Amino acid sequence: MSPGRHIKLTVADTGPGIPPEIMNRIFEPYYTTKPVGEGTGLGLAVVHGIVSRHGGAVTVQSAPGKGTSFHVYFPVVEAPEAQQAAPEQVVLTGGGSVLVVDDEQWLREMLSAMLTGMGYTVSASENGAKALEMVRSNPSQFDVILTDLTMPEMRGTEFARQIKAIRSDLPVILCTGALEDSFRKEGDEDYIRAVLKKPVTKAELSRVLAEVLAAQTEKKG
Ligand SMILES: Nc1ncnc2c1ncn2[C@@H]1O[C@H](COP(=O)(O)OP(=O)(O)OP(=O)(O)O)[C@@H](O)[C@H]1O
Ligand SMILES: [Mg+2]
Repeated sequence: MSPGRHIKLTVADTGPGIPPEIMNRIFEPYYTTKPVGEGTGLGLAVVHGIVSRHGGAVTVQSAPGKGTSFHVYFPVVEAPEAQQAAPEQVVLTGGGSVLVVDDEQWLREMLSAMLTGMGYTVSASENGAKALEMVRSNPSQFDVILTDLTMPEMRGTEFARQIKAIRSDLPVILCTGALEDSFRKEGDEDYIRAVLKKPVTKAELSRVLAEVLAAQTEKKG
């Protein structure tokens, strides 16, 4: 560990604990005691890699039956904070009504909080079918839709296609993971006004929304 002040982050559980005889293997890539198909064995290896690259360290305390605590130490940055945020980090404020569609509750909540902070009015839905109902019941209530691509019942692209049939001018922004470019080959991009790569930052989200809404206003004249 580097000398100097550190910040300590502890994650503790009340699980089965780690037997001493495997303790020296748990950070090895691909080492897992989970059943085949369940664990990758990469969790701790990745954590270790990230923390090491920041000049930090990870320690672990565990006893069988008594739970496990991981302590992550990060060196404190003593340099003064940069005076001005880089332009790509600026969060733009906006206005209008956004419908967020994502099957993961925490993502819906996080996106909603981000958008509310920017000045938007936010509604959320956990799947495409419910979202379609919301739009159908009052097609003019939303200015823009932000949807996840991979959802269990209806994919974001199919959802966007059906939105087009209800209200062809309602812009849909698709959020996709890094490895989810396949929708482009399906010819689905016609229904998508913009694509946001996950993890979505506040600044990026605010910029894409502002661009899409500005283009929308222009179209209307
Ligand atoms: N909190 C914990 N409690 C008990 N055992 C743990 C804990 N965290 C890790 N281990 C042990 O260390 C092994 C390696 O952990 P690691 O996170 O690298 O992979 P994994 O948890 O098996 O897989 P994945 O993270 O992909 O789900 C685990 O299989 C388990 O035996
Ligand atoms: Mg793990």
